[in-house]
Amino acid sequence: MSSSINTICVIGAGTMGSGIAQVAAQNGFHTILFDINDEILEKAGTGIQKNLQYLLDKQKINAEEKENTFKRIRFVNDTNDCIADLFIEAIIEKTEAKVGIFNQLAELNHAEVIFASNTSSLSISAIQKQVLHPERVVGMHFFNPAPVMKLVEVVKGDQTGDAVAATVYEFCKALKKTPVMCADAPGFIVNRVARPYYLESMKIAEKNIAAFETIDEVMEATGFKMGPFRLMDLIGMDINLSVSRSVYEAFNKTERFKPSPLQIDKVEKGELGKKSGKGFYTY
Ligand code: NAI
Repeated sequence: MSSSINTICVIGAGTMGSGIAQVAAQNGFHTILFDINDEILEKAGTGIQKNLQYLLDKQKINAEEKENTFKRIRFVNDTNDCIADLFIEAIIEKTEAKVGIFNQLAELNHAEVIFASNTSSLSISAIQKQVLHPERVVGMHFFNPAPVMKLVEVVKGDQTGDAVAATVYEFCKALKKTPVMCADAPGFIVNRVARPYYLESMKIAEKNIAAFETIDEVMEATGFKMGPFRLMDLIGMDINLSVSRSVYEAFNKTERFKPSPLQIDKVEKGELGKKSGKGFYTY
């Protein structure tokens, strides 16, 4: 276990936050899960219970581990209850929101606390410019679903302290994840490399070269675990569009990263994917 980190607090109990909290609790950390929305907190609790039951049914954990894991998570809706050694935020993808919550929590917590952002596309260095303790801010980019996906990109912003990045890297290992260290750059590694996977696929569908289901089928048949459309539905159309937009902007609006009208239309219609019940597919 990472020595200086005993209690972690995950901010935002949505798709990513609930998964990250589950992983932390499963690996023995006292975990606080904070959200401003009580309904989401309740949904996160039910979701985590369901995931743990699945692991129990598959005999990956026993009944005692299931119970203890759940007991390690405290669900809270008040920032005054957010006292921890490491914060991992997974709230809306807006720099101001992330800066706001980090600064609020810095006032309440001890001087060594680390602030990690699970942002998929925002610049860690830009967040650092507006926070009270920039050297303690780092990117910690998990993948969806967090309890299953091994990779975590540990992102060093311009001002991230070496010791902070090293502590978070070790913490990822304590979560039995596979961390990779990378510098702050648009899309980091995976989201940059993956952009054409989504964007070219949407161009093919827009031009009626093939139906989106066919494209998924083809890509899955060639060995990808999920076709691009199924994957966009899992990620969330809004999240994926905001990554597209910020990579596009960061690369001076180069054509190859231009967001697709198809994804913009889906977001406008509220067809966000699995989480809203409809995206490219219906759930
Ligand atoms: P989500 O929409 O499922 O959850 C966000 C949660 O944050 C909501 O429950 C909302 O009530 C809560 N929230 C908003 N403002 C808050 C505040 N000030 N304090 C506390 N809670 C607040 O979003 P999702 O998909 O979990 O994404 C969260 C972050 O993780 C984003 O930065 C996103 O870019 C990143 N991410 C998302 C991935 C994905 O596949 N969805 C993958 C990796 C990173």
